[in-house]
Amino acid sequence: MKVLVVGKGGREHVLAWKASQSELVKHVFIAPGNVGMKNIGTLVGIEEEKILELADFAEKNKIGLTIVGPESVLALGIVNEFEKRGLKIFGPTKEAAKIETSKDFAKKLMKKYNVPTGNYETFDNILEAKVHLDNQSVPIVIKEDGLKAGKGVTVAFSKEEAIEALEIAFSISGNKVVIEEYLDGFEFSIIALANGETIIPLEVAQDHKRVYDNDKGPNTGGMGVYSPVDRIDKTIVDETIKKIVNPMLVGMKRDGIPFKGFIFAGVMLTDSGVKTIEFNARFGDPEAEGILPRLKTDFIQVILDVLDNKTLELEWDKRYAVAVVMASENYPKSSTIGSDIDIPEKLESLVFHMGTKIEKNRLQTNGGRVLSIVSYGHTLEEAQRNVYRDVKKIKCKQLFFRNDIGSKMCYNNKNK
Ligand code: AMP
Ligand code: GLY
Repeated sequence: MKVLVVGKGGREHVLAWKASQSELVKHVFIAPGNVGMKNIGTLVGIEEEKILELADFAEKNKIGLTIVGPESVLALGIVNEFEKRGLKIFGPTKEAAKIETSKDFAKKLMKKYNVPTGNYETFDNILEAKVHLDNQSVPIVIKEDGLKAGKGVTVAFSKEEAIEALEIAFSISGNKVVIEEYLDGFEFSIIALANGETIIPLEVAQDHKRVYDNDKGPNTGGMGVYSPVDRIDKTIVDETIKKIVNPMLVGMKRDGIPFKGFIFAGVMLTDSGVKTIEFNARFGDPEAEGILPRLKTDFIQVILDVLDNKTLELEWDKRYAVAVVMASENYPKSSTIGSDIDIPEKLESLVFHMGTKIEKNRLQTNGGRVLSIVSYGHTLEEAQRNVYRDVKKIKCKQLFFRNDIGSKMCYNNKNK
């Protein structure tokens, strides 16, 4: 079968790489892909948001399965278009993708189906939002409605910080803002393949959202992950599926907006059990880089099975994986483009490209998050050592990375 992967970041690099390893796959196309994926398959010169052109391409080239990476493309309705033409595609319709594209929509569904999450109120004007804020204690969370690539969220530790976040959010006309209870605890990401009520959960990962070491600085799309997460044992995973992922899927199906694709729950393990921070309608990035390399079962078989409403036991590499993101120096505020990158030819780690390009035969930065480097270890500490050994061998004047990916868990292990 021929597979088309839509997108151009690190997540799509892993999706395409896993697809290319499948015994069921003859050829992988990636639209538009990036230079790092050149050896995996054919890069198709169609931008990801050109959904009509992508559907034409899939029809003409008899693509057997299309896998969509980015939420922005799902929000444009790529799945609606492909399904209208009878093309097989793995991802939610734009209606179902609203669990990510509108925080307000997601919160309302959670409330309706008793999915545990923080208390919240939604506002469309700053005056009412400020009055509400007066009666709240800090920390408090301010979330802009709509797609923000993980950057529209402020966890405010003072009222001043909260007011500043409201002012920024409402400076964009028509913006809605969710003011949400702060959840304290241990955060983790759980991603499952879903089709209506059929669900195949993947192993858990922990992302590092803040830009600097020790969780300092603003939120980002994610600076690194590790998987598995020992602290999130089977009981907690089962509880998360039972209380968070399942009721959401069942509820969406009942409401006539069945979810098909990767469903991603950002979850906080609090003193009173698991609570939802957010839902995403796609695989996480860099979660994909931390989780999928460990999957031993044929990835495409898993997708085809879930599309047929079959479930199967997944087989995993027992080792730990740590993925470290290398980002442009001003990320998440801005990104640098055109800074030369040198990657030694013989690295043990896997190198996934998030935002790179080739210019005059040189590999260069081309975005906020640039590379995602992944290594394994029999312990988390060993995986950490392995990955940082290689990260330090990659030379670029304008790239930085966090030095503590995986350390939260390592410290916890030491404290046991
Ligand atoms: P989101 O885009 O909703 O995932 O938010 C980005 C990050 O902000 C999350 O990964 C959390 O680390 C943090 N965050 C969001 N909502 C809350 C909350 N209610 N309590 C504590 N932290 C939160
Ligand atoms: N790493 C978090 C996300 O993909 O939203």
